[in-house]
Amino acid sequence: MPAHLDAGTGPAVVLLHGYPFDRSMWREQIDFLSAHGFRIIAPDLHGFGETVRQTSVSESAGPSHRLKSVPLNNEDEADRTITTMADMAHDVAALMDELGIADATICGLSMGGYVAFEFAHVFPARTRALVLAGTRAPADNEQEKQARVEQAEQMLARGMGEVADATLRKLLAPRTLTENRAVVARVREMILRADPAGAAAAQRGMAARRNYSEDLSGIKVPVLIIVGRQDPIRPVADAEFMHRGLSNSSLAIIEEAAHMTNMEQPEVFNRALFGFMEALDNSAGV
Ligand code: MLT
Repeated sequence: MPAHLDAGTGPAVVLLHGYPFDRSMWREQIDFLSAHGFRIIAPDLHGFGETVRQTSVSESAGPSHRLKSVPLNNEDEADRTITTMADMAHDVAALMDELGIADATICGLSMGGYVAFEFAHVFPARTRALVLAGTRAPADNEQEKQARVEQAEQMLARGMGEVADATLRKLLAPRTLTENRAVVARVREMILRADPAGAAAAQRGMAARRNYSEDLSGIKVPVLIIVGRQDPIRPVADAEFMHRGLSNSSLAIIEEAAHMTNMEQPEVFNRALFGFMEALDNSAGV
């Protein structure tokens, strides 16, 4: 079973982390929602967090393991490995099977949002609702794909330090950077402890992802879109684009946050998420 956290009882909510993070980024949402009547499932996606250790264990489990495992000490293999967003969505469904969860609200931030799009596409009947935070629908252009390939090579050659240095200022709003040292440290440490081979495989997977704009009109479940007003990575315009294309969505813009809305402004994020979940429950009872 993939590394995951399972807390609380009630309607299930699956929290999918961004890149290059792990399930620990959801700490405040796990604590809050599990104390307020929801069952929270937070997996480490393939190649991240504790799945890295598990992957080397699963290699000995034989050919039944569907994903190509991430080799931690074979540079040639690591140069080629790709973990697609669809791979990750299938892992989420397999985890739900193992936990006996038929359907859930799927909440993803950034890369987690791409996985949520794939999940909703492949498993519509298991998608009760979607929460798309700091993410976008269109695929990458050629320049963006190339930047991902270059970052994958850089991580494999020199580790995660340069990625942490280059991205912190985009991930967090200026005020978070100066006034919230604890969040800055948590985000930095998450990046630094990421496995370069796992992160590189996910970068290639993101470069290869589908254009989810084509899915928008077919998504009929309720969707909450969350975006940080100061996010330079997935700006408000990306959220508004999804909002226009979806038939049943609401949009929450979090003012004092950039990309890591759930960590920078956990109370505001939790209020938006909880309000959405409560409304779902109420409409289900009508
Ligand atoms: C993330 O936070 O997951 C990444 O910014 C996603 C991406 O690179 O597109």
